Amino acid sequence: MSKQILVFPGDGIGPEIVAEAVKVLEVANDKYALGFELSYDELGGAAYEKYGTPLADETLERARAADAILLGAVGGPQWDNLDRPLRPEMGLLKIRSQLGLFGNLRPALLYPQLAGASSLKPEIVAGLDILIVRELTGGIYFGSPRELRTLENGERYALDTLPYSESEIRRIAKVGFDMARLRGKKLCSVDKANVLESSRLWRAVVEEVAKDYPDVELSHMYVDNAAMQLVRAPKQFDVVVTDNMFGDILSDEASMLTGSIGMLPSASLDANNKGMYEPCHGSAPDIAGKGIANPLATILSVSMMLRYSFGQLEAADAIERAVGNVLDQGLRTGDIWSEGCQKVGTREMGDAVVAALRNL
Ligand code: NAI
Ligand code: MG
Repeated sequence: MSKQILVFPGDGIGPEIVAEAVKVLEVANDKYALGFELSYDELGGAAYEKYGTPLADETLERARAADAILLGAVGGPQWDNLDRPLRPEMGLLKIRSQLGLFGNLRPALLYPQLAGASSLKPEIVAGLDILIVRELTGGIYFGSPRELRTLENGERYALDTLPYSESEIRRIAKVGFDMARLRGKKLCSVDKANVLESSRLWRAVVEEVAKDYPDVELSHMYVDNAAMQLVRAPKQFDVVVTDNMFGDILSDEASMLTGSIGMLPSASLDANNKGMYEPCHGSAPDIAGKGIANPLATILSVSMMLRYSFGQLEAADAIERAVGNVLDQGLRTGDIWSEGCQKVGTREMGDAVVAALRNL
């Protein structure tokens, strides 16, 4: 049976980078007989222009019916003055929560050819390949009560709440263990169990889930130490699982170990590994329409789609190897360019990955 892939080109550089990722996806589709059928719709600013809302009801229904979603990025200054519910980013938040995409995977993989682009010494980051699994639909970003008010004595006062239920922790812990099983079989759960009740529950539930994964080596780390270890010795990690806010901070920290944001893919998964795949970066309005954006984060998001939603490991690996081969050839978009390399545009980079994939 064919698999339905819904594509949202999005705003800014979105359509440019998605066009290249789709070319790669179509070559993989042929070469590995994946049986994918692609269809297109709009999300974010482009959807506001077409439907008058950043996520139309019929678009949401199409997204529910699809087997996986590929997204460029949304947003741009032309929509900044819209009311909050009409803003492009609200379309993105709504689709994540409506589809229950609680498992956010952010790999930080350093291509050896780009070792010089990292802010850390080459020997610290050489061979780096870690995966941060961030809980995406719970915790302090969604907890209530939340308020900001002025007390009777005139002092301003604010409150946020950090709730986690056992079931929310259990399902993200399972994602962490499942991912570790597909990779290096090591999972580090990051919390603040020495201080927070939610983290004590987190740690207890992760321990319970671990009983179903005897083949995965589990460790626990406090978040402050994890932040330090990520820059001291990042290669000690394989998969890290953590809550929404800790994951937000640690994944940004980890991403910078690899050089450019133009290289970083992501996946947001539901309980059945149905997912939305998108680069970590935004719509880059400053370079939109110039044909110079790096399409590799989006191309690598396609590889994540094949790996995590469809279990097509051979095809997923092939796309990553094709990207590596193109970097070996010395081709670089501006964000990853260095002396002695050949500067190319978005389309040339996409074409080079397509050719490398065909040649594997
Ligand atoms: P951004 O990630 O779009 O850009 C930050 C910087 O990185 C810019 O200088 C940009 O040119 C550069 N950059 C980003 N992607 C690149 C690529 N593929 N190749 C080369 N250079 C690249 O972040 P910014 O400027 O803060 O946000 C711009 C818009 O994107 C805003 O409307 C924001 O809300 C939205 N945004 C959307 C996200 C999404 O769709 N998931 C995520 C982050 C921001
Ligand atoms: Mg994005």
